[in-house]
Amino acid sequence: MDLKSSFCGIPLENPFLLASAPPTASIEMIDRAFKAGWAGVVTKTIKPDYMEIEDAKPRFHALKEGERVIGFENFELVSKQNLDYWEKGIRQLREKWPDKMIVVSIMGDSNEKSWADLAIWAEKTGAQALELNFSCPHGMPEKGVGAAIGQNKNITKLITRWVSDSVSIPVIVKLTPNVTSVVEIAEAAKEGGADALAAINTVESLSGVDLKTLTPYPVVQGFSTLGGYSGPAVKPIGLRVISQLARETDLPLSAMGGVSNWSDAMEYISLGANHVQVCTEVMVSGFSIIKKMISGTKEYMKEMGFNSLDDFRGAAVRKLTTHESLNKKSDLVPEIDTEACTGCGKCVVACRDGGYQAIHLLEKKASIEIDSCDGCALCTFVCPESALFFPVQVHSA
Ligand SMILES: Cc1cc2nc3c(=O)[nH]c(=O)nc-3n(C[C@H](O)[C@H](O)[C@H](O)COP(=O)(O)O)c2cc1C
Repeated sequence: MDLKSSFCGIPLENPFLLASAPPTASIEMIDRAFKAGWAGVVTKTIKPDYMEIEDAKPRFHALKEGERVIGFENFELVSKQNLDYWEKGIRQLREKWPDKMIVVSIMGDSNEKSWADLAIWAEKTGAQALELNFSCPHGMPEKGVGAAIGQNKNITKLITRWVSDSVSIPVIVKLTPNVTSVVEIAEAAKEGGADALAAINTVESLSGVDLKTLTPYPVVQGFSTLGGYSGPAVKPIGLRVISQLARETDLPLSAMGGVSNWSDAMEYISLGANHVQVCTEVMVSGFSIIKKMISGTKEYMKEMGFNSLDDFRGAAVRKLTTHESLNKKSDLVPEIDTEACTGCGKCVVACRDGGYQAIHLLEKKASIEIDSCDGCALCTFVCPESALFFPVQVHSA
C-alpha cells in the first residue's frame, strides 16, 4: 500500500504536509520535519522586508479538556525572518530533499508590485508552488491584508491575478472561513487564475475572559485583541468548508483545520481533499506524529479495500444531499445495550429536559418508550458508556 499522490502536478510521497505556522518558521525545523517523514511543507508566511511586524507576548491561549488541547487561539503575525534567510534556506532544502514539496506562503502589501515581486522572488528561490495568505484573521486585516483580502471577492480576484500573471508555478489561494460564502471567494480566486485552494485558515475568535482582571485572553499588558482559533474544535468548520469547495468548485484542495491523527485526515480526503496540512497538533505533540498518521492510514485503507488515495477521495462527499431530500420516513429509535447500561440516569434527564420524555429507568436500566421517542439521538451522546446507539446504516448511492 503506498500513499503517493500528486498536487498540481507535484508528486507527494504521502498526504501529510505541515501548514504555514510556527512548525515551518525556520529552515532547521523544516529539515527536521522532512527527516521525520512529512511529505511537504508550506513555509510560515513570508512578507517583503520593508513590511515591519512585531509580535505580542504572549500571543496564544488554549482551551483544554484534561491534558488535551482541544482549541487553540493565537494572534501571531507572519515570519520575522528576512528574504535573504529564506532564499538561502529554501535553496539548501530543495537540494537536500528533492522529493519533498516546498510551498512558499506569501503576503504582499496592498499594491501590485509588492505581490508580484514577492511571487517572482519565491519562484526563483525554488518554491514549487505559492500559497497566498488571504486569510489571517488577526493583526494583518488592520493593515488591509490577510483576511481583509479573502473577505472580498473583487480584491481576491485582483491579487490572485497579479500573482498568477507573474509566475509559472502553481498558485494556491488560502481561504478564510470567516465569510458568508466561501464558494463565492473560491470562484473569485479561480477567475483570478488560482490553480488550487487551501482551507481553512483560523476561525476569528475570543477564547475566554480572565474573570479576576476582566480581560480577554491572551492578556498582553492588561489588554487583548481578537485572535484565530485552530485545533480539534475547528475541524467541523474545516470539513464543512472542504465539502462545499469539493461540491461547488473543480480546483484541487489542500485541507486543514483540526487534523490531529490519521482518521481526521481520512475524513477530509473522503470529502474531496487531495491531502491535509497540520499545524496545532504538531505544535503541541511534535513532528513525530507523522509515523502513526502514515501507519494508521495504510491500515485503514487496507481494511477498507482501497488501493490508492485516488480511489478513496471524495467517497463521503457523494453522500451529502439537501435536507429536503433526506428520508424522513424512518421510525428508527436507539437500541440499548443493557449489559453496558449502568442505570446512571443521564439519558433520562437529557431526554426529559432536552428531548421527548421517552426514557425511564426500569429495574435500574434505561428503557425507551418507542411511541414517544422522536429518534433525535441526544441520549446516545450523553450516555457515558455508549450503551444507547443507533444501528449502523449503510445505503449505497
Ligand atoms: C500560531 C499559529 C500561527 C499561524 N501562522 C500562520 C501563517 O503565518 N500563515 C498562514 O497562512 N496560516 C497561519 N496559521 C494557520 C494555520 O496554517 C492553519 O490554517 C490553522 O491553524 C488550522 O489548522 P490546525 O487546526 O491544524 O492548526 C497559523 C496558526 C497558528 C496556530
